[in-house]
Amino acid sequence: MSIEFDQSAIVPSNYHPMISEKKIQERLEELGAEITADFKDKRPILIGVLNGGFIFLADLIRYINTDVEMDFIRISSYGNARESSGHIKILKPLSADIKGRPVIVVEDIVDSGLSIQFLQNMLSAFSPSELKFATLLHKPSKNKTNIKLDYVGFEIEDKYVVGYGLDDEQVKRNLRSIYYIA
Ligand code: IMP
Repeated sequence: MSIEFDQSAIVPSNYHPMISEKKIQERLEELGAEITADFKDKRPILIGVLNGGFIFLADLIRYINTDVEMDFIRISSYGNARESSGHIKILKPLSADIKGRPVIVVEDIVDSGLSIQFLQNMLSAFSPSELKFATLLHKPSKNKTNIKLDYVGFEIEDKYVVGYGLDDEQVKRNLRSIYYIA
């Protein structure tokens, strides 16, 4: 994968580098190896949480060395505000039948934790054989829940972050590295 592509034209001056593209890819290789070892021959279903989780899921599955299925779910996120309201709606339901199947939910970021708490309640009602959570980023100081995160890319401090799937009022998801806004 090229790490030479220059995106400075779409990086405003109040964006500051936090995690480089190279660091993200290196960490994904480690997470992929862990998932491969934990799910070898179990054919898990990876559920990407839209919109933010799409790039993480797309890259992560390419570091997994066993067969996986995938699906997407879309839940409402913050809209244009930067704080979770806690009122979450399903905007696109699952298509896959997860009953009796191992499932890994793939999130971009766990902030208040309310989204994954909602997903845990909702998905466990379908009786998967296992329900695990992968998140690229985690803000431990903001997490109000005690849900176990099984695969965490990076723990970060409480800053608003963008890029690599994460948006700033719907744009900047295409940035290859992660930046914080200050
Ligand atoms: P939570 O329910 O508060 O854990 O937040 C979950 C969702 O809020 C994430 O899946 C993101 O879509 C969004 N979010 C939380 N923090 C950030 C951030 O720093 N940048 C961009 N999106 C965020």
